[in-house]
Amino acid sequence: METYTGIPEELKHSVLEKIKPTETEKKKLLEIQEELASEVKTAADKLGVSAVLVKMVGSAARGTWLSGTHDIDVFISFPEETPRKELETLGMAIAREVAKLAEHAEDRHAEHPYLNIVFKGFDVDLVPCFRVASASHIKSAVDRTPFHNDFVKARINGCEDEVLLLKQFMRGCGVYGSELRTQGFSGYLTELLIIHYGSFENTVRAASSWKPGEKIDIMQHSEIEHREPLVIVDPTDPKRNVAAALSLDNFCMFIDCCREFLKSPELKFFFPAPFLPLEDREIIERLESRKSTQLAVLFKTPDVVEDVLYPQLYKMEQAVAAFLKEYEFSVIKTGVWSGKNETVIMLELISGALPNVKKHIGPPVWVKEHAEKFKEKYEGAEDVFGGYIENGKYVFEIRRKYPIAKGLLENQLINCSLGKHIHQSVNEGFEIIENAEICSLKDLDFRIFLRKWL
Ligand code: UTP
Ligand code: MN
Repeated sequence: METYTGIPEELKHSVLEKIKPTETEKKKLLEIQEELASEVKTAADKLGVSAVLVKMVGSAARGTWLSGTHDIDVFISFPEETPRKELETLGMAIAREVAKLAEHAEDRHAEHPYLNIVFKGFDVDLVPCFRVASASHIKSAVDRTPFHNDFVKARINGCEDEVLLLKQFMRGCGVYGSELRTQGFSGYLTELLIIHYGSFENTVRAASSWKPGEKIDIMQHSEIEHREPLVIVDPTDPKRNVAAALSLDNFCMFIDCCREFLKSPELKFFFPAPFLPLEDREIIERLESRKSTQLAVLFKTPDVVEDVLYPQLYKMEQAVAAFLKEYEFSVIKTGVWSGKNETVIMLELISGALPNVKKHIGPPVWVKEHAEKFKEKYEGAEDVFGGYIENGKYVFEIRRKYPIAKGLLENQLINCSLGKHIHQSVNEGFEIIENAEICSLKDLDFRIFLRKWL
């Protein structure tokens, strides 16, 4: 019999000690939020827009933010019947008025424009939205957020610490964040898990037995089938899966972390030791011991936001691997690293070199017309080593056009199916680097990536 002792209270305490905002931090955040709300109202009045309301949303408004993270989400909500154009121009005008008091401001674009500012050291999003009757009647994706806020705020009271523990645990596992780069769990999703399971410990225990197809429907109002591995029906919108962005591998990574954690609940799950950059000597040692071929496709990082860049990079990773397989190279694994200036697609192959001879199988001998044509084309032709019959088919041993993977990519990379921005960048120039040559890439963050890779 397995005896279950639970997660030690001291462990939870020492984690919370590091991640729970202090009273001073809470007070400061509250002050800033109030200040921002009043600045938005002042700006709206000044511009003669009377119908807007200011709403604080996100983890800052729910008491579920991790200490040290300083993002505040301010929603500027307009009556539902406001024309979209007007919401955009007036909303942004109000935001820009507030931005006059900020240290820094930057236009951002989701479904419609919003403004990101740094205000007294806080990272603030000023987001215009429609004040709709319910989250299932939204006119823009951001309109759901105020409903999330109301739902969570009404139920999370007293469980904030549990949310913090879960967020930090997921951070430690590398699965926190719903951006397209991470494809993990969003903040709202962790809150819903705590509301559903009641505590961090219950969530971890339940998740250690999850299977793809796991579905949680707190309001019992699901209206459609979903295909994602985890389905958390949005309590404010019966058609939406809050876990839609979660990839199968991150879903499984979380399950794995939960199991390991329950076996030995330790601080390191929340705060894993950072990976150190791999040094030249270590790269060489590991390459010699693995005896595979490493290829790095190197090009300039396109100047687009991560939510646009990463889907294209993941697509490229797949496309290049599929392309190499078409030419009979065996791909062991693929990976992506992207820095400020340079981007690298890594490929590990069983071998980057194939023999010159390639087996070319033709039609069965009895399919007379085709078989004769095939034989005629290859028999005695240049670059043909020989021919024979095997399993009733003509076979010719011909010279392989691309026996070296590096050469294949140098010649043909541009013909792989690449996303718009990557195609542009690759078209301007790229480099294929092989094995020990990757030592020429000195970026420390890339070297950290390499430690996990090799
Ligand atoms: P944030 O990404 O800031 O999340 O989005 P958060 O809940 O505040 O969590 P942390 O602590 O900063 O990581 C703000 C709000 O926008 C909505 C949610 O309602 C969220 O609370 N949102 C955001 C989504 O609905 N989906 C997303 O993928 C991201
Ligand atoms: Mn937030």
